[in-house]
This record gives sequence, C-alpha cells and structure tokens, in this order.
Amino acid sequence: MPNVATAIAHPNIALIKYWGKRDLSRNLPAVPSVSLTIDRFETRTRVAWGAERDELHINGRAAPFSRVGAFLDKLDRGRPPCAIETTNNFPTAAGLASSASAFAALAVAANAAAEARLDRAALSSWARTGSGSACRSLFGGFVHWNLGELPDGSDSHGRPIDASWDLRLLVAVVDTATKPVSSTDGMLRSQRTSPYWDAWVAQSPHWVEHALAAIAQQDLCTLGSLMERSTYAMHATMHSSNPPLNYWKPATLRVLSEVERLRQSGVQAWCTMDAGPQVKVLCAPCDVDVVHRAIAPHALEVSQHRPAEGARLVDAD
Ligand code: PMV
Repeated sequence: MPNVATAIAHPNIALIKYWGKRDLSRNLPAVPSVSLTIDRFETRTRVAWGAERDELHINGRAAPFSRVGAFLDKLDRGRPPCAIETTNNFPTAAGLASSASAFAALAVAANAAAEARLDRAALSSWARTGSGSACRSLFGGFVHWNLGELPDGSDSHGRPIDASWDLRLLVAVVDTATKPVSSTDGMLRSQRTSPYWDAWVAQSPHWVEHALAAIAQQDLCTLGSLMERSTYAMHATMHSSNPPLNYWKPATLRVLSEVERLRQSGVQAWCTMDAGPQVKVLCAPCDVDVVHRAIAPHALEVSQHRPAEGARLVDAD
C-alpha cells in the first residue's frame, strides 16, 4: 500500500517582484522579493508514495511527469513510483501564480507521504527548485524571499513577515489563455538581452528594504507605490527584451487606467501584474467595493482576496 498525503496551498502575488535567476540549475533568484499569500484560489495535491507507476493528473487529465519527477528525485533519489493528483480552482499558467501553489502543495504532501520530516525552511528551499515563487507559498500573509548567500542555495527561501495587516487584493482576469512564454524563458530572455537589466538588479533590493519598512508601519501608500514601481520596472525589462516580451492585452491597460483614475479621486488602490495579462489591485478593506465597481466592466471576472495561510496538510477525502 502506498503512503498517501494531501496538501493545500494558495498562490502568492509578489508585491516586490522576482524576475531573473543568478543560478539556473538551483533556481536562485537575481533579486529578492516580497509577496502576499492570498485566499480563495487554491491547489489541492494528493501524493501516493509507492504507487504502481509514476503518474500525474492535473485537473483530472494525465500530464507529463518529468518536471515533477525531477523535483521528487531531489527529496529521494531512490524513491518509489509516485501517483500525483492535483487540482486548481483557478486558471493554470495564466499569470495567476499557479506554479507557486502547485509546488508548495506538492512539497508539503510529498514530505508527509515520504515521511521525510523537512522543516518549513527546507521545504521552502526545495519548493523553490520546482518554481521560484513557490518558496513563498509555504508561508501565509506577507513573505520575504531573500537572495541567500550559501553556494548550494539552501538559505534562499521564504520567510514569514510578522505583520497582521488586513489588506485586500482584487484579481481582474482579463484573459484566460495559457501564457505564450514561460516565466523561466522570459526571465532568461530579459537578463540576456534587456539594456535595463543591470538597473533592475541594482534597484530591487532597495525596493524590498523599503517595502519591509512600509509593511512594519502599515503604510499602504508607500507599499502600493513601491509595488507599482517594481511591477513597471519588471515589465520594462520584458518589453525591452529582444525579441520583446509583452504579456499585456488591451484590457490590461484599461484596468490600469481605471485604478490610476481612482487614485486621482483619492482612493488608495495600486496595481501589479505578473507574467500574464491579469491585473491585481491592492487596497484597504474599506475600498474594495469602489475598486471592484471601477474595474469590473473591463474584466472577464474580478475576485476579492484576503491574506491566507501557508501550505498545509489536510485530511484526505
Ligand atoms: O516562480 P516563477 O518561475 O513562475 O516566476 C514568477 C515570476 C513573477 O510571477 C512574474 C514574479 C513573482 O515574483 O512572482
């Protein structure tokens, strides 16, 4: 009989962005980042350790096992065959951080099924090797992913930021197509060809430092403007790559302009985007309705999210 464990993880949205790798094989970041783990979107993953054969099902469909297999091999080179079933209640690979929740849930479930007993920091480091941003979904609320100094990368992982600050993130889905260029390929293209690359790497640690201070002071205006600066700077490295990398759609710009208009009228709302066309808007709980009304006409769907818990085991059904 296989050992079975099931875990749930939520995606996280970077406030100060991760874009670029200083070590591709270990998946070590070129820049530090800060994120917020959000509720309502979730990945649920069941791992059967010691199954008949290696197999992966994503949302009920068989999928290639190689990336997941390589990830599990890092836990145990001599592992038995594993059967993985994973479901997302939100669009996969559309710039909504599905790989973050996927590898965080897989790490927690596989750790339990294999009785490996890795602690949170080690789980976060391991999840990072599956997908960089996954190291942040091991933790709830605000999370800091530091660069790390050790050559093996084991000290480059998520760390929870001690802050009980109740913010809201609205996610405006404007397009559900799978992204044309993966984050890894996009990052490599930006770092090899964008003339803005060095400035991006030089600036990001300062934005992280200021963002940590803004979180400690619960200063939404400072945090929001830093988030927009980091976002636009990241997209500038994408747009200035060769060939250019553009994840935006016309509706992306319409949502961005609405939020700018709201701010001019005194509402504290700020945008971020990832490797996809969706826009995420950060605001205080009291402004959720006004923000929702303003952006909904330009989106296919708008959802509202609160800070969520980190990845965790759940009882199997
Ligand atoms: O974790 P990856 O390889 O999917 O990269 C995520 C990159 C961004 O979402 C664009 C930014 C971030 O910090 O999450």
